[in-house]
Amino acid sequence: MFFERPDSGETCVLVHIDIAANSDQEDLAEFEELAISAGADPVAVVTGSRDKPESATFLGAGKLEELAEIRQSHDAGLVLFNHSLSPSQERNLERRLRCRVLDRTGLILDIFAQRAQSHEGKLQVELAQLRHLSSRLKRGWSHLDRQKGGIGLRGAGEKQIELDQRMIGQRIKSIRKSLARVHGRRELGRGARRRADLATISLVGYTNAGKTSLFNLLTGAGGYAADQLFATLDPRLRRVTLPAYGAAILADTVGFISHLPHQLVEAFKATLEETVEAQLLVHVIDAAGARREEHIGQVHEVLAEIGAADIPRLQVCNKIDLCAEVEPRIDRDREGRPVRVWMSALTGAGEEELRRALGELLGKDMRQQALFLPPAQAGLRSRLLARGCIDSEHVDESGNFHLLARLAPDEARRIAALEGCRIEHSEYRPEGTVSGRQNSVKFRF
Ligand code: GTP
Repeated sequence: MFFERPDSGETCVLVHIDIAANSDQEDLAEFEELAISAGADPVAVVTGSRDKPESATFLGAGKLEELAEIRQSHDAGLVLFNHSLSPSQERNLERRLRCRVLDRTGLILDIFAQRAQSHEGKLQVELAQLRHLSSRLKRGWSHLDRQKGGIGLRGAGEKQIELDQRMIGQRIKSIRKSLARVHGRRELGRGARRRADLATISLVGYTNAGKTSLFNLLTGAGGYAADQLFATLDPRLRRVTLPAYGAAILADTVGFISHLPHQLVEAFKATLEETVEAQLLVHVIDAAGARREEHIGQVHEVLAEIGAADIPRLQVCNKIDLCAEVEPRIDRDREGRPVRVWMSALTGAGEEELRRALGELLGKDMRQQALFLPPAQAGLRSRLLARGCIDSEHVDESGNFHLLARLAPDEARRIAALEGCRIEHSEYRPEGTVSGRQNSVKFRF
């Protein structure tokens, strides 16, 4: 620990103040969930309203007195503010309340720290925490120095701070190096996927919308879906097979939250890169959520921030089992393209509709093509087969492959330009099941 802080406890008091100048209020119910997700036990909530925050302690003297009494009567070891506190406000409050004080950003960082599973996830969280801490260290002390003239504090304090800053700086540097290595490895993985021409679908959405549940439903993975915010931190990738399309990669990503601390967006860039590079985003929405529209807006904001605003998107209104009289269905735009699917990841209702919509969107430009591949292109034929886009094939006496494959026109042209390959004429269009030399591939549709 770089600061000497009073011991923290699990029992906490929540503070939620309506600030008149702030039209963008946080949600108290969500804040309570966040606190519980972090493992805290909220015993009291202090609410109130102010025109604007008080600069030194955020709260006015009267409210602070009330908070101190409530904290003491519950013997709470932690006070959580549903606001952003400046480092000096946090420290002034800690002194006055004689317990640990955490603001919304600190709380989210804490949850992230608890949930990170993979090596990369842990590194990313640590980086975000150190950057958060380092800014507090600097500004926290400079504020005190100004106020107290630094007497009795400055000498030792400054040396300690320089030391702390240097240690933090060194650790940040070493984490960045490790992250660059991990990043390189991920880049290799992505390269392999690109070579296999597998499209990536990224699940995005507000925290607790049901992304992991949906991921598990579609991929058959028995992953961890918890009624805890941010149950997912590390991207998980699995293969899915979609009707009228074939194989694709599904990526489950970290949940978004309103006012995601900027340093977290930065630190989690590698995690969200799956999202930026995806061919299709599936925006999972809690259809039964009270702040549905607001959360949709927040997700759009984060997507714009990470440069994913232009990627085609399908909305999935999840949890219809909690909505009265909503049946699974696909909503389409004027051109007939799926824009929204109503379903329940819990009951599985609407799964078929979702798979169909995904297959349609990814395969929208695909056409069935008759291809001729010489034996030397057996590797390419295996890759096409693995993607599930070969509807049928015939292998002639010379070992040439005659394929009926569903491909985007660009890709068919690219293949036709390869050595010995060409787009065939209709006389080679085999019907039904055709036996090949090693494989027998059935028509799937
Ligand atoms: P983060 O990891 O926080 O981003 O959450 P997430 O979006 O991955 O949500 P997750 O799948 O963990 O689900 C959150 C909670 O919602 C869990 O308690 C799920 O059981 C529940 N849930 C998910 N889908 C449905 C659904 O269709 N209906 C109902 N009733 N609950 C659901």
